Amino acid sequence: MEPNAIADDLVLRRDEGPVALLTLNRPKALNALNQPLLQRLAERLRELAVDSNVRVVVLTGSGEKAFVAGADIAEMADYDVATAQHFALAGQNVLNHIATLGKPMIAAVNGFALGGGCELMLACDFAIASQRAKFGLPEVTLGVIPGFGGTQRLARLIGRHNALRWILTGDVHGADEALRLGLVTQLVEPEQLLPVALEIAQRIATRGPLAMLAAKQVVDQGWDVPLADGLRKEAAAFGKLFRTQDQKEGMAAFMQKRPAKFTGN
Ligand code: CAA
Repeated sequence: MEPNAIADDLVLRRDEGPVALLTLNRPKALNALNQPLLQRLAERLRELAVDSNVRVVVLTGSGEKAFVAGADIAEMADYDVATAQHFALAGQNVLNHIATLGKPMIAAVNGFALGGGCELMLACDFAIASQRAKFGLPEVTLGVIPGFGGTQRLARLIGRHNALRWILTGDVHGADEALRLGLVTQLVEPEQLLPVALEIAQRIATRGPLAMLAAKQVVDQGWDVPLADGLRKEAAAFGKLFRTQDQKEGMAAFMQKRPAKFTGN
């Protein structure tokens, strides 16, 4: 844990070499996203973005029950139109920062990932989950819709019909269903969740940082453009990597039959 971390910090950070573990820490409210928690998460993201020691981030929730049970309903209940819209935009900004962080971010989903919690997971680069995790976008049960990107990212990920089935029913789904639809890439026993997530993160952290950044950017840019444009972006990014030291090091290491030592230059 970082030296000045305090127990009631809303987003704990623990570094293990090049991997930072962020733990959303409001377990009594199932880590529901209120404004202070979102602000603290935004601060943590800004801190990680400029920390050259950190190459990969793992995001999880504290406590046994929840990753994040959604945006804070008690806080939202009396919002007016302008405040609600501002809250949605603020939440989307934080999640966009995750999606564009420049370092891979893995969600380790330890329990409920509902509403804003499911949206938070969708903004990460991929997710692995405990077999006990539960997923859903139950906003319509509250008379509203997802506001932190759920209508957009879920439909892009699992297709319009599957996304609308989730959004219109508001149902809560088990981990098997999330795996089947591709929301999570792997299910593990609950006690194995963090060890497995951290092991994957450590492995990714040995890869070329500039290549990871380029890969993320090209995949994301490709969501919204025709295939031919996406392929052009891929070729351009592939080419640019050949002026980096990481490319020289990666290919030299292969030919010399040794592990590569990437510096991110
Ligand atoms: N906001 C505020 N508080 C929440 C919360 C939320 N989203 N989810 C849970 N809590 C609180 C509960 O109020 C309760 O607090 P108290 O002990 O003070 O009463 C505590 O966390 C424990 O929750 P429960 O007693 O309800 O636990 P449970 O095991 O019986 O149920 C649950 C768990 C099914 C996740 C249930 O808590 C639940 O349905 N939560 C709400 C889920 C939801 O609707 N999320 C979407 C929110 S809207 C949204 O996210 C909008 C957006 O896109 C931005």
